[in-house]
Amino acid sequence: MNFHNVVFETSFGRFDQLPKSDLVEIAFAGRSNVGKSSMINKVFNRKQLARVSAVPGKTATINFFRLESVRFADLPGYGYAKVAKGEKERWAKLIDGYFRSGRNIGLVFQLVDVRHKPSQDDLQMIDFLIENEFPFVLILTKKDKLTKTQLAERLEALQTEIPCADQITMIPFSSEKGDGVEEVKAIIEEIAAE
Ligand code: GTP
Ligand code: MG
Repeated sequence: MNFHNVVFETSFGRFDQLPKSDLVEIAFAGRSNVGKSSMINKVFNRKQLARVSAVPGKTATINFFRLESVRFADLPGYGYAKVAKGEKERWAKLIDGYFRSGRNIGLVFQLVDVRHKPSQDDLQMIDFLIENEFPFVLILTKKDKLTKTQLAERLEALQTEIPCADQITMIPFSSEKGDGVEEVKAIIEEIAAE
């Protein structure tokens, strides 16, 4: 696949606006500020494909991209405390609606910040994916912010912090340095070939 050829499709702010899914989809989920948009830009090697911001809560819509026969969904981040209650509810409905609207979801890249213990929201999301049998891979973001020793400690801790950790593929990732990019691309190519 020529990853650089990805195209932006559309944005949706309400789940009842979501178009029917005719292609296999790969979704990027995780807390606000965890690095979803940065990961997308890195994987596709495009600087401005998905908007990145130091201000959490930047992606308030589901943004769709397409490459060949695969559609990608940059989901709005959850768990950002400073957002008004009404806005939080809209996001929750949008994410929930996305997963429950009978789409062909081939894989979810579930992002968690490798530096910290997963939040309650992260664990709820992971439980949701397990219970509903959505295939997913855990992307451990911002790897470059840890030393080798710190990283080893966090990887060990995650084995007990994440339910069923031994059965989950975990990929340490850095949008700054590019760690994990090749593994992620290989996974995407596998889905595209199915
Ligand atoms: P929302 O759209 O709010 O849900 O956030 P997001 O998950 O899309 O996060 P985004 O990609 O916008 O990144 C948030 C901040 O983290 C930005 O300042 C990024 O530059 C930074 N960041 C993301 N990934 C990495 C990484 O791998 N390493 C480092 N050092 N910083 C990163
Ligand atoms: Mg984003």
